[in-house]
Amino acid sequence: MFGTVSSIIISVIIAVFIGSKDCIACFRNDEHKTNIIPTGSSFYQECHCSEPGYNMQYIKWTDINNEIITAGPGTDSLIYVEKQSDGLNIHIPKVSKSMSGAYKCITNFEGQQYVQTHTIEAYDPLYFINAAEVQHIMESQDSRINCEARGEYPPLITWHKGEENALVEIQNSEKYSITKEGLIVRNVTTEDGGTYKCTAMVMVTGEEVDRFIKVEVMTVPIIQDIIGIPNTIVMLGSKLSVECIAEAKPQPEYIWNKVYTGPNDEGNQTWKQVANTLIFDDIKGYDAGYYECTAYNMAGNSTSGALIEVLVPPEIFGFDNMTAEEGTNIKIACEALGIPKPNITVTTSIFDSDENGEKNTELPLDWSFVVERYHKGVYYCNAINEVGNASKTMYLTVLHKPYFEYPTEDLWGWNGKVFNLSCSHESEPPSVISWRFQGNEIPTAEQVELNKQLIEKLNNAQEQYLPVNIDENFLYGVYECVAKNAYGEATKTITLKKGFVPSVVNNITIEQQAATSVTFSIQEPSDYEGPEVIGYTAEYDQAANYEITHIHLNRTWAINRPFKLEKLKPNTTHHVKFAAINEAGTGPWSETLVFETLERSVPEPPVLDSDYVQIESPDNVLKWKAPADNGDSIDYYAVRYCPVDDDSDGELCGEERIGENTEFNLSSLEHNTTYFVEIIAHNAQGNSTPSNITLITAALSTHNTLGLLSAGAIIGIAVVVVVICLVLLDLVLCAWRKQGIIATCCSKKTKDDELKSRDEKGLLRDNGDLEDCHKRPDKGHKEYEYNKTTGIITGKHSAV
Ligand SMILES: *[C@@H]1O[C@H](CO)[C@@H](O)[C@H](O)[C@H]1NC(C)=O
Ligand SMILES: *[C@@H]1O[C@H](CO)[C@@H](O)[C@H](O)[C@H]1NC(C)=O
Ligand SMILES: *[C@@H]1O[C@H](CO)[C@@H](O)[C@H](O)[C@H]1NC(C)=O
Ligand SMILES: *[C@@H]1O[C@H](CO)[C@@H](O)[C@H](O)[C@H]1NC(C)=O
Ligand SMILES: *[C@@H]1O[C@H](CO)[C@@H](O)[C@H](O)[C@H]1NC(C)=O
Ligand SMILES: *[C@@H]1O[C@H](CO)[C@@H](O)[C@H](O)[C@H]1NC(C)=O
Ligand SMILES: *[C@@H]1O[C@H](CO)[C@@H](O)[C@H](O)[C@H]1NC(C)=O
Ligand SMILES: *[C@@H]1O[C@H](CO)[C@@H](O)[C@H](O)[C@H]1NC(C)=O
Ligand SMILES: *[C@@H]1O[C@H](CO)[C@@H](O)[C@H](O)[C@H]1NC(C)=O
Ligand SMILES: *[C@@H]1O[C@H](CO)[C@@H](O)[C@H](O)[C@H]1NC(C)=O
Ligand SMILES: *[C@@H]1O[C@H](CO)[C@@H](O)[C@H](O)[C@H]1NC(C)=O
Ligand SMILES: *[C@@H]1O[C@H](CO)[C@@H](O)[C@H](O)[C@H]1NC(C)=O
Repeated sequence: MFGTVSSIIISVIIAVFIGSKDCIACFRNDEHKTNIIPTGSSFYQECHCSEPGYNMQYIKWTDINNEIITAGPGTDSLIYVEKQSDGLNIHIPKVSKSMSGAYKCITNFEGQQYVQTHTIEAYDPLYFINAAEVQHIMESQDSRINCEARGEYPPLITWHKGEENALVEIQNSEKYSITKEGLIVRNVTTEDGGTYKCTAMVMVTGEEVDRFIKVEVMTVPIIQDIIGIPNTIVMLGSKLSVECIAEAKPQPEYIWNKVYTGPNDEGNQTWKQVANTLIFDDIKGYDAGYYECTAYNMAGNSTSGALIEVLVPPEIFGFDNMTAEEGTNIKIACEALGIPKPNITVTTSIFDSDENGEKNTELPLDWSFVVERYHKGVYYCNAINEVGNASKTMYLTVLHKPYFEYPTEDLWGWNGKVFNLSCSHESEPPSVISWRFQGNEIPTAEQVELNKQLIEKLNNAQEQYLPVNIDENFLYGVYECVAKNAYGEATKTITLKKGFVPSVVNNITIEQQAATSVTFSIQEPSDYEGPEVIGYTAEYDQAANYEITHIHLNRTWAINRPFKLEKLKPNTTHHVKFAAINEAGTGPWSETLVFETLERSVPEPPVLDSDYVQIESPDNVLKWKAPADNGDSIDYYAVRYCPVDDDSDGELCGEERIGENTEFNLSSLEHNTTYFVEIIAHNAQGNSTPSNITLITAALSTHNTLGLLSAGAIIGIAVVVVVICLVLLDLVLCAWRKQGIIATCCSKKTKDDELKSRDEKGLLRDNGDLEDCHKRPDKGHKEYEYNKTTGIITGKHSAV
C-alpha cells in the first residue's frame, strides 16, 4: 500500500524531472516539488547535470536547515548523497517526521543559481489499534466489535460482514452503529457471529487498510439441571454424585460450594469436585445441606443449588444407668440423633401392677421428678425415624434407707415349730441386720447371753431370716430386727406368743339332710390363744357300730368346704363328733351329735360342671358326675335334647335312656348345633329332678359323617350285590355252558384242550387271539337281565 503510493509519487517526480530535461546546463530552471510520504519509507531523488561542461561538482544538496549534505553512502548518516557520473542523488532510507522540510538541489550557472526544491512532508501511516483478529460479543446484549485505526489523518472506517468473496457492507442502522472505536452490534444473537471486515481509509494520503475480524458470540452459562445420582436423598454412608449441567459458549467452568454449614459440621470437607460433579464417597450426616454450583465463562456466570438430604438412622446418646438418692430431684432424658429427626419415647414398666411387665407406661420426654423408692427399675428409650430405630435400656438405682412392709408382726409359736423370723425389707444398698430379744421378765445377763446366741445363729449380717426351732426352753416375747445402711435404719418388732390348739367345737347344726348324706354347719371356736382354724376333722359311724367296734369312719375338711358326710346308710341313726384344727394341732372332740339319715328316695340330679359347653370334635360326648343315689343305685340316666333355635314345638327333640354310663354320645345329633339338654338320674325310687345344660355339638368331622356314610353304604351294598349276582351268573354259565371267568380261570384244563373244546364250538376261527370267555357275543341284539334285588339291569351274558 505504502509502496504503491510512493511509487506513484516518485514517477510523478521523474516525469517532472524528465520534462525539464531540455536544459543544457546542469539545469537552468527552478523547480519545486512536494513529496508526501509515510514515515518509515525511503526517499530517493536524483539531481542530474546535463549541461555540457558541467558536472556534478556543480551540484549540491542542502537539507532542511540549508546545510549541504556531504555524507556519502556507507556512513552512519541517516541522509546521504551518492555521486553519479551525471548527477547527485539524495537518499533517505527511512523517513521520519523530523526529516520533513525542503531538500534542495542547487546549481550555479554563470553566476545564476538554480534550485530544485523537494519538500518532504512525512506522515505517520495508517495502522489498527485495538482490533484483535478474534473477538467475542455477548448474546442478547449490545456489544462492540473493536476496530480502531490511527494515522496522520483521521481515518474513515467502513465495515463489511462476510468472507472475502461475499462481503456485505454494514451501514449505520438500528442494528449497527459504526463508531470511532468499533462496530456496535445491538441485541446480539448467535447469527451475529462470523467474519467482519474493518476497513480504515485516509482520503488525503489514499491509504487504506483492512482487518478481518473473527467474531464469536458468547452466551452466559445457564444451568440446565442438577442431577443427584442416585438421588439427592441418600442413606448415611452411601455414595453420591451430583452433576451440574450448564449450557454456555464458550464451555463454562464449574465451582461447587456448600452454602449452609450445619451445627454438626466439624468443618471437615468430605466431598470433592471432579469437573462439574460433586462427589461424596461416604456421605456423613453433617454433609446434608444446600450446595451451590456456579458455572462461569467470560460472558458471566450463573448459580443454582441442590439440597442434599442424608437419612441417618437414630442413635441414642446418654441414657446410661443412673443412681439417685431418695428425695433428690433427677431428670430422665433421652437424646437421639438421626435424620429425619427421630421420634423418641421413654417408657418404663415400674408403674405396672401386672407382673409380666409387658405393659409399659410412657413417660414425658424430659421427666424431672423427686425420686422415690418405687422409681427404681428399668427405663427404655426408643428412637425411631423413617430409616431405622434404636433402643436403649437404663436402670435407675434409688439409694434409700431400709423399709419394712410390716414393721410389726404377731406370731404364734408352739413346741416343735421350725420357722424363720423374717427381717425381710427393702434397702439400697443392702443393709446390715441385727437381732435382739426383749424379754419381759428375764434378767439382763440372761438376755445379753441370749442375744449373743441370736447373732451367732446368723450366717452373715445381711441374712434376712433368723431360723427358730421352738422347744421346751424357748423364750416367747418380742424379737427386734434392726436393718441399717448408709441412708438410715428401720426396726421391726415380732411378737412371738405361745399358740394353742383350737378349743372345743360346741355349735354344730345340720344344714342339709338326704338319704345317704348330711351337711353340717360348724361355728368356728374363738375362745383360745393360737393360730386360726384351718380345718375340721370328724369321726362318725352308724349308731349300731359303736357297740361292735371302737374304730370308726373319719373325714377331714379344709375350712370353707361344705362339711358333708356321704355314703351313709339311709333311714339309719348315726353318731358324729368334730374337732377343729390349726397349725398348732387338733383341738378336743366335741360332744357326739346323733342324727338320722332320710329314707331312700330318688337320686340327686346329675352333676354338671357348668350350664353351657361347646363340644370339641374328638370326644363328641357330654359327660357328668354321678349324683348321690339316695339309697338305691342309679339304674339309668334319661337324656332329652332339643335344638335351641327350633320353633317346631319340640318335634325335633329326642330322648334317650342310657345305662349307668355318665356320658352321652352326641353323634346322633346334628353337628354344630345348639341343644338344650336335660338329664335325669333314675333309681328304684324314681326320677331325680333334671339337670340341664346348653351345648353346641362338634362341627362336622370324619367321626361324625353318619348321614353321608349311610348313603355311601347303600351304594357299597348295591355294588356288592351286583358282584355277587354276577358271580352267581358266572357260576351258572360255568356249570351250564363251561363259559365265564370261573370256567376260564378256575378249571385247570390245558390250553390245547381248551382251544379244542372252544374250536369245536366254532368260537376259534381266523382270530388268533384268545377270546375272553366273558366277551359279549355279537349277535346284533343284546339280552338283558333285571335283578329284582338290586334294580340293576345287566347284559345277560355280560360280566360287565
Ligand atoms: C432481541 O432479539 C430478540 C430475538 O431476536 C427479540 O425477541 C428481542 O425483542 C430483541 N430485544 C431488543 C431489546 O431488541
Ligand atoms: C475432622 O477433621 C479433624 C482433623 O482435621 C479430625 O480430627 C476429625 O476426626 C475429623 N472428623 C471427622 C468426622 O472426620
Ligand atoms: C459471578 O458474577 C458476579 C457478578 O455478576 C461476580 O461478582 C462473581 O465474582 C462471579 N463469580 C464467578 C465465580 O465468576
Ligand atoms: C413420629 O410421630 C409423628 C406424630 O407423633 C408421626 O406422625 C410420625 O409418623 C412418627 N414418625 C415415625 C417414624 O414413627
Ligand atoms: C427396629 O429395627 C429392627 C431391625 O433393626 C426391626 O426388626 C424392628 O422391626 C424395628 N422396630 C420398629 C418398631 O420399627
Ligand atoms: C445397668 O444396670 C443393669 C442392672 O443393674 C446392669 O445389668 C447393666 O449392666 C448396667 N449397664 C451398664 C452399661 O452399666
Ligand atoms: C429359713 O430361711 C432359710 C434361708 O433364708 C431357708 O433356707 C429355710 O428354708 C427357711 N426355713 C423355713 C422353715 O422357712
Ligand atoms: C350356733 O350357730 C348358729 C349358726 O351356725 C347360730 O345361728 C346360733 O346362734 C349358734 N348357737 C349358739 C348357742 O351359739
Ligand atoms: C381315719 O380312718 C382311716 C381309715 O378310714 C384310719 O386309717 C385312720 O387311722 C383314721 N384316723 C383317725 C384319726 O381316726
Ligand atoms: C325306717 O326304719 C324304721 C325303723 O327304724 C322302720 O320302721 C321303717 O319301716 C323304715 N323305713 C323304710 C322305708 O325302710
Ligand atoms: C336348669 O337348671 C337350673 C338349675 O341348675 C334351673 O335353675 C333352671 O331353671 C333350669 N332350666 C330349665 C329351663 O329347666
Ligand atoms: C357352625 O355354625 C355357625 C352358625 O350356626 C357357623 O357360623 C360356623 O361357621 C359353623 N362352624 C363350622 C365349623 O361349621
